[in-house]
Amino acid sequence: MIKNIYVFGATSKIAEETIKHFAKDKSSFYLVARNSDKLEIVKKDLISRGAVSVHTENCDALEYDKHKSTIENAAQVMGNIDLVYIAHGTLPDNEGIRNNQANLLEEFNINCNSTLSLCSAASDYFEKEGKGTLAVISSVAGERGRQSNFVYGAAKSAVTEYLSGLRNRLYKSGIKVITIKPGMVETPMTADMEKGPLFAKVESVGKTIYTKIKNGNDVVYVPGYWKLIMGIIKSIPESIFKKLNI
Ligand SMILES: NC(=O)c1ccc[n+]([C@@H]2O[C@H](COP(=O)([O-])OP(=O)(O)OC[C@H]3O[C@@H](n4cnc5c(N)ncnc54)[C@H](OP(=O)(O)O)[C@@H]3O)[C@@H](O)[C@H]2O)c1
Repeated sequence: MIKNIYVFGATSKIAEETIKHFAKDKSSFYLVARNSDKLEIVKKDLISRGAVSVHTENCDALEYDKHKSTIENAAQVMGNIDLVYIAHGTLPDNEGIRNNQANLLEEFNINCNSTLSLCSAASDYFEKEGKGTLAVISSVAGERGRQSNFVYGAAKSAVTEYLSGLRNRLYKSGIKVITIKPGMVETPMTADMEKGPLFAKVESVGKTIYTKIKNGNDVVYVPGYWKLIMGIIKSIPESIFKKLNI
């Protein structure tokens, strides 16, 4: 039963649209994000939807030294944590950053290293408790490197592989590790992108993620048709793929 929920990147639109369903289930929340004004808005919304309690903490994903303590703080305040949901991220302009070492490394730190650090802290906590669910937003972009976003894709690919190994390691202990792979979703992250038919509404993505977390699925494509699309993309031989303008 998922009652006490820790969210990192709690001001992400996808996260917001996921956790509002848990609020209706009368859950308690420990929300972590870097912007306190936005956190307050999410907090009020969850309370209005039925959340039992909502605590907040400010943390930038790059403040690695705080990762373990935010999880410990949450466990202390709520009594325990049933679900850790990690949702922060940035979508960089690949052309703009690929040859800028500082920006390249910062994007990799936000989209990969900080996530792995938080997963490590969360799984350590869950192992000591002997139970729990870790749900992390990766991306279909991590399935195959493309010229238009291979820095972001490489970071998400590393997250996906890390979670695969962690799931394998924690299987016997009953701790669930859920990899969430959205396709393109209408959120602030994609606000500047031209919207085509494959773009999903964030409300339905959030609802699907909520259901899949409750079901304890391992790997979740949202919307589901991305599993087929990525299966096709991954099956294209490299000799052809390298010539495509994607
Ligand atoms: N939208 C898509 O098409 C799509 C597709 C696949 C995967 N995803 C993934 O889904 C997740 C959620 O994204 P979203 O679409 O909901 O976008 P979003 O609404 O723009 O949310 C991104 C969140 O990441 C936070 N963030 C960025 N850098 C941070 C840092 N250094 N420290 C702490 N928080 C930081 C942002 O905080 P601020 O509010 O303070 O900026 C914001 O809350 C991300 O992991 C993203 O990579 C999105």
